[in-house]
Amino acid sequence: MARPSSLFLALVLVAAMAPPMALAFDPSSLQDFCVADYTSNVFVNGMACKDPSKVTADDFTFSGFHRPSDTSNAVGSNSTLADIHVLPGLNTAAISLVRLDVAPFGLNPPHTHPRGTEMLTVVEGQLYVGFVTTAGKLHAKVISRGDAFVYPKGLVHFAFNLTPRPAWGIVGLSSQNPGLIRVADSIFGASPAVTDEVLAKAFRIDAATVQMIKAKFGN
Ligand SMILES: *[C@@H]1O[C@H](CO)[C@@H](O)[C@H](O)[C@H]1NC(C)=O
Repeated sequence: MARPSSLFLALVLVAAMAPPMALAFDPSSLQDFCVADYTSNVFVNGMACKDPSKVTADDFTFSGFHRPSDTSNAVGSNSTLADIHVLPGLNTAAISLVRLDVAPFGLNPPHTHPRGTEMLTVVEGQLYVGFVTTAGKLHAKVISRGDAFVYPKGLVHFAFNLTPRPAWGIVGLSSQNPGLIRVADSIFGASPAVTDEVLAKAFRIDAATVQMIKAKFGN
């Protein structure tokens, strides 16, 4: 058995060889709040703080979850975001909230939030929800009013309304600015466009099919 001194030395060595720690979540606040100052020209990770003496309750208030968003679009879904861009009190709070509306047979298409784990609870209706792991395994099921489902951070996920009735839910995300990458839109709707050769090879289809899909995403 190793003597304490050599064990300690070994631990120090292991610690020294470990890669520098990466912050995997929004940094936590060192004060009561840091209400975003939308007018500041200072670039920081997040947003600069507003003078606390000028902060009011309105800085922490969002109104807009009481009405559905307009779902008459190509996918039949839409959402109302209460994130750092509209709710300054969320700055450094590591949380945001979304109202998700899905029309009958509508889809919140496959997408990922690079900076936030998501939890969806169904308020009305039924949704077929799922995500795909980095190993390519699909975890999916139908959830109903009162149920909740977790989409782990960064994984591609979706929500589909299999019913002829509208569905809606409230989504919590573990970031003030979780980010949104819609898989199809980001690949086929990028500006400037990703070249046909790259997409044809990636999706194992011909260039004509690539162009046909691109046209649906404005390219
Ligand atoms: C989402 O809903 C809002 C509010 O109803 C509307 O202004 C916006 O155009 C909709 N977006 C899409 C993509 O349908």
